[in-house]
Amino acid sequence: MIDLASYGEDFVTNPYPYYAKLRAQGPVHRVRTPFDQEAWLIVGHEAVRSALADPRLGKDRHKSDLQRVIDDEDPLLTNMLDVDPPHHTRLRKLVAKEFTPRRVEALRPRVQHITDGLLDAMLAAPDHRADLIEALAFPLPMTVICELLGVPSIDRDAFRAWSQEIVSPTSAEAAQDAFGTMAGYLTDLIEHQRRESADGLLSALIRTSDEDGDRLSHEELIGTAFLLLVAGHETTVNLISNGVRALLEHPAQLAALRADGGLLDNAVEEMLRYDGPVETATWRFADEPVEIGGTLIPAGSAVLVSLASASRDPQRFDDADDFDITRDPRGHVAFGHGIHFCLGAPLARMEGRIALRSLLDRCPDLALDTSADAPTWRPGLLMRGMHHLPVRWGA
Ligand code: HEM
Repeated sequence: MIDLASYGEDFVTNPYPYYAKLRAQGPVHRVRTPFDQEAWLIVGHEAVRSALADPRLGKDRHKSDLQRVIDDEDPLLTNMLDVDPPHHTRLRKLVAKEFTPRRVEALRPRVQHITDGLLDAMLAAPDHRADLIEALAFPLPMTVICELLGVPSIDRDAFRAWSQEIVSPTSAEAAQDAFGTMAGYLTDLIEHQRRESADGLLSALIRTSDEDGDRLSHEELIGTAFLLLVAGHETTVNLISNGVRALLEHPAQLAALRADGGLLDNAVEEMLRYDGPVETATWRFADEPVEIGGTLIPAGSAVLVSLASASRDPQRFDDADDFDITRDPRGHVAFGHGIHFCLGAPLARMEGRIALRSLLDRCPDLALDTSADAPTWRPGLLMRGMHHLPVRWGA
C-alpha cells in the first residue's frame, strides 16, 4: 500500500516524477489517498485508456464502501459524469441535444470580446504586473459558462469558493459544507429560471424533451447545472494558466509560437498533454473483479485513473517530459476517454486558443514575475492547477 500523503507537498507541486516511478513498477498500485481513502491507482497510457473504456469500472458508488465527503444520494451526483448507462446515455443525449456545436460556435465573438475586455483591464495595471489567474484564466471561462447557461447574475466569487472546495478540498468538513451550500444555491437558481422565460442553455434544459417526450427531472437539472458550471470553468482555468506557465518557462517554444501563429492549435494540444488541467479522472468502482497488467482488482474497489501519468508516458510520446509545441500530441487523454469523454472539449479548445492568441498579441514581452512568490498548487488528486500565476510585461 502506497501512502500518497507520504510523498508530501513535492507530489502536489510536481507529481510527474512520482508517476514515472510508479509506471516503471507496473500499471496498477494499491494506494491510500491524502483523505485516507483506500483505492487502486492506474498509471501509464495503455492501462489508463483501457481502464477508462472498461464498462466493468463504472460509476455505481453503492457497490463500494469508499468513504466520500458527499452523501451518495445527493442530487448534485445526479449528473452524467456520476452515472452508468443507460442513465448516462439518456442524460448525455438530453444535454448534447441542447449543447450543440452551433450554440458553442455562436459564442466565439463573445469569447473574443470578453477576453479583450479582461486584457484591457489587466494591461491598465500601473506596475505592469498581474495574477494571470485572477485577471484572465478564471474570469474568462466563468463568464462564458454563465452566459452559455443564461445565468449572468450568478455570484461568481461565492460560486468559485464552493466550487474550489468541492474539486480541491482543503478538509472533508469544508467540502461537505460547500456541497450543501451549492445544492441550495442551484435549487434556487433553477426555480428562478423556471419562472423566467430566458433563452440560455439552462432554460433550454428545463424545457427540453426528446422524441419520446423524455425530460430531465428536478434532481437531474440540479446535477446537470452543477456539472456544467463546475466542469465548465475549473478545468479551463488550468488549461490557460498551466499552458501559459509552460510556455513562459520554455523561451524557445514561446519564440517559435510568436514566429509562427499557425502553431497555435497544436500548442494548445501540447499544453493539454504536458500539464493538463485534470490529474486523475473521477472515481470509478469495480462492478466485478478486473485484471489489469497481471493484478486483480477486487469487486467493490474504488479506482483512480491517472490522466497525468498517461500523457507523460514515454511508451506513447517520445521525450514525454519535454514541452514541444511542434510534436504530434494527439492521443493525450486530457479530456478523458470512453463514454465520459469531455462534452465541453470544443468550447474549452476555443477558449484556450482565443485566450492564448490574444494574450501573446497584446503582451509582446510577457514573462513570469519572478519577484513575486513562486506559484503554489491546489491540493487533491483531481485537479492540477495553481492558486496564482504572477506575470509581468512592459518592464
Ligand atoms: C480544458 C478544459 C477541460 C478539460 C481538460 C476537461 C476534462 C474532462 C475530463 C477528463 C472528463 C472526463 C472525466 C472522467 O472520465 O472522470 C470531462 C468530462 C466532462 N466535461 Fe470536461 N473538461 C474541460 C472543459 C469542459 C467544459 C468547458 C465543459 C462544459 C461547458 C465540460 C463539460 C464536461 C462534461 C459535461 C463532462 C461529462 C461527460 C460525460 O460524463 O459523459 N468540460 N472533462
